[in-house]
Amino acid sequence: MLVFILFQLACALYAENLDIKPLSNNELFSTFNFTMQQAISPIPPIEYSIFPRSLGEILQSTMTSELHIRFGHGVWDSDSWGALPQNGLITGGSGVEIWAFISAADQQHALRQWNQLVNQLSGYFCASMGFADETVVTFPSMQAMAPRGGNMNTILMRASLPAEPVCTENLTPFLKLLPCRNKAGLSTMLSGNRVFASKWQTMSVDVFPFEEELRLEQIVSLVSDVKRNFTDPLPYPELETDLDCDSYRGDGACFPVKKSEVAFNLTTIFGYFERDLCILGDAKIKVDLPVGWTVNNDTKYESILDETIPELEFVSNGKASFDNLPPPFIVDRSFSGYGMQNGGVRVVITNNRPYPINVRYLESWPHFVKLFMHTLSLGGNGTIVNKTYLPSLNKNSAFLELELEIVDSIVLEFEFEKSLLLLEEYPPDANHGFEISPALTILKDGDYVYEDRTPSMLLPLPVPDFSMPYNVVILTSTVMGLAFGTIYNLLVRDVVPLSQVPVHSENLLQKVLKKIK
Ligand SMILES: *[C@@H]1O[C@H](CO)[C@@H](O)[C@H](O)[C@H]1NC(C)=O
Ligand SMILES: *[C@@H]1O[C@H](CO)[C@@H](O)[C@H](O)[C@H]1NC(C)=O
Ligand SMILES: *[C@@H]1O[C@H](CO)[C@@H](O)[C@H](O)[C@H]1NC(C)=O
Ligand SMILES: *[C@@H]1O[C@H](CO)[C@@H](O)[C@H](O)[C@H]1NC(C)=O
Ligand SMILES: *[C@@H]1O[C@H](CO)[C@@H](O)[C@H](O)[C@H]1NC(C)=O
Ligand SMILES: *[C@@H]1O[C@H](CO)[C@@H](O)[C@H](O)[C@H]1NC(C)=O
Repeated sequence: MLVFILFQLACALYAENLDIKPLSNNELFSTFNFTMQQAISPIPPIEYSIFPRSLGEILQSTMTSELHIRFGHGVWDSDSWGALPQNGLITGGSGVEIWAFISAADQQHALRQWNQLVNQLSGYFCASMGFADETVVTFPSMQAMAPRGGNMNTILMRASLPAEPVCTENLTPFLKLLPCRNKAGLSTMLSGNRVFASKWQTMSVDVFPFEEELRLEQIVSLVSDVKRNFTDPLPYPELETDLDCDSYRGDGACFPVKKSEVAFNLTTIFGYFERDLCILGDAKIKVDLPVGWTVNNDTKYESILDETIPELEFVSNGKASFDNLPPPFIVDRSFSGYGMQNGGVRVVITNNRPYPINVRYLESWPHFVKLFMHTLSLGGNGTIVNKTYLPSLNKNSAFLELELEIVDSIVLEFEFEKSLLLLEEYPPDANHGFEISPALTILKDGDYVYEDRTPSMLLPLPVPDFSMPYNVVILTSTVMGLAFGTIYNLLVRDVVPLSQVPVHSENLLQKVLKKIK
């Protein structure tokens, strides 16, 4: 009986969901959603059940009421895949992004707690989150990023590390937070080599108060390449005899006809996985199919799993049309200008809606890029409603937050100057430039929220002539060599007083001296 009650309790606390949707004949989108809840007792020692105690304690010790982490990899192709999944609320830009709502007296105290928080998370998620220190952190307004738990008496801090490579070593600690780890349940389908070989991938961790409880949502989304052959990861060209050429266009050349009939199953996409479910929670699989596709000979699939994870067989007749809805707006950001010293940024935001939209645009820039805000110009059909610009002081990042009203499309432009870094400020790796954080654009329209992150940008910085130290070393060595030679000569040579010089040479010397006299 007790076991049964515990089981019932746990079921309410933990849920696993898998949503699958083909985006095209060749691309399959899947989202794994692991959600758990923890009752928070008002008197301190919290009794942790399935909620990871270590994470709970990190949050408690740093007075963090809400924590959001995003790991991102690849670029979402919104031209063919449409709007971001979950309105972009679970997707990250390239690299790692963290934001947290911290209870503190002022920003100084909040910064101290933030540093503690990111340093602990750094070890926890095997990522260099410790680099998200006061030089990177920004303070966006709560109007832009509202707390999901609704606690407004906190300080919002956000940082992104666009150069952080996201890989298996981040997935493993992510899965370790789950009550069944990756030993049972839907999480067994997530193996590093399949997840990170996908075309686009994002992982998110959200901890926030939810209906008097603390809720942890962990989501992994990926777009898999259906035709990729994992038994042989090297891509080979198709054999000539297997090619199906488009006879209307061919004139000696072959334009292959896109083969659109596909048949695959979960094993082909995710590799072999355990079929057992995690007994601590409910699991559900939902498949959203376009017309022309079937799964297990059915056109619809939604099931609450009871014992094992079933094998799903997807078949497409190749006549499907994909109605991926376009995103409400599109943001394009690029560098303009030329030369090593100066540059510019050009941002084009296109409104896909028939009426004007109000968005917030957030950017942060490292201290070695000096933005000239007086050059900020706005073209196209729209206005800047509100502008917050915090210039870089004392090696902090500069922060720009704009509230924009966009009728159809706008073009934002501003200029910057790059500064030279000190020698030790260059990273100790092969220098390929510096990553500029993705720009975040948020649309709020009543209850509807859509977030978009641009790809990060690579900024080449003027590099000092590293042959200078070499020249200095050469010159110093020469001087040292000369000095050493002279001094060695003086020290080692026998110096004999005139009176002790042997007679025959004394005569000679005396002769010489006489002559000189
Ligand atoms: C994840 O699952 C939980 C519980 O089923 C649900 O409340 C939540 O909305 C889901 N989140 C996403 C992003 O789908
Ligand atoms: C995958 O590649 C291997 C080795 O080249 C080949 O034997 C196998 O038939 C391929 N599988 C598919 C489904 O193309
Ligand atoms: C899944 O598909 C692969 C390749 O098409 C096939 O070899 C395998 O038997 C299928 N698995 C199941 C359980 O149907
Ligand atoms: C789908 O239908 C075919 C033919 O009727 C049958 O052989 C196959 O087992 C069915 N597949 C599933 C998953 O039910
Ligand atoms: C801006 O949009 C309004 C309303 O759609 C239109 O009347 C006006 O001509 C547009 N202006 C420009 C410069 O495109
Ligand atoms: C502009 O932004 C600042 C800072 O977020 C805020 O205090 C102010 O009320 C805003 N003004 C308008 C007109 O929205």
